[in-house]
Amino acid sequence: MSLVLDEKEIEHTLIQILQDGTTGGLTDFISWIMLYKKQFLNQEVQIDSNIVKLKLESLKSSGFAEAGKFDPKEFTISSNELQKKKIPSIDKFKILGIGKYSPIQYARSRQENFLNLNKAIEEDATDISIATIEAVENSVKYGDGKTVIFEQEIDSERIYKLKIINGIKEFDLSDEIERGKYSSNITLMRGVMIMEKLFHKLDLQIKNDLNEVHLYAEKKLS
Ligand SMILES: Nc1ncnc2c1ncn2[C@@H]1O[C@H](COP(=O)(O)OP(=O)(O)O)[C@@H](O)[C@H]1O
Ligand SMILES: [Mg+2]
Repeated sequence: MSLVLDEKEIEHTLIQILQDGTTGGLTDFISWIMLYKKQFLNQEVQIDSNIVKLKLESLKSSGFAEAGKFDPKEFTISSNELQKKKIPSIDKFKILGIGKYSPIQYARSRQENFLNLNKAIEEDATDISIATIEAVENSVKYGDGKTVIFEQEIDSERIYKLKIINGIKEFDLSDEIERGKYSSNITLMRGVMIMEKLFHKLDLQIKNDLNEVHLYAEKKLS
């Protein structure tokens, strides 16, 4: 059975999502309300998209949210509100590796916010973002569709550290052969190659005992 969220709950959850440093459009926020309720209440929820739209607009008029930097149709927490927050050097969260929860945009925007707050220069932030999108995409594409753990940190030597953990989907070897992963062609492992190029350290471990993939990556910030 799914729960119908009322206006107050929608507003409250939107504030939480914005405070976590995300940026997205209306459909992203609808996905993320579903994500938060699934994670924290283990409930599927029904949401009236018109209410979400009105609430986002009113959070913007009240000065809590503002338009995204690159896309005026997107919403993010206002710089005014951001200033009230302590700058985090560690940020840990969980997403669900299913497209309907918009996990890639969630991680991407939350990471961008984290790097911004920590004054990473744009070039570093862009490299890290491109590489991380590849990693999160893999965790959704090849993961078991359940929890993906995402941890980011900037240490005292200004090294950005990323850890992503996902469960592994049961896979069918013939599918893998079909899509050419085991042919001798060169276009394989493109995502991993991009990550290797853009991070200074990359370690992708398959933990067979746990049925998980653990990705660790580092980049020294300029
Ligand atoms: N997070 C992950 N979980 C499970 N398998 C993964 C993960 N990341 C990478 N892989 C495996 O490594 C392979 C190489 O990944 P990648 O270089 O991104 O290439 P592609 O995604 O195009 O197959 C994938 O095909 C997949 O089998
Ligand atoms: Mg890939």
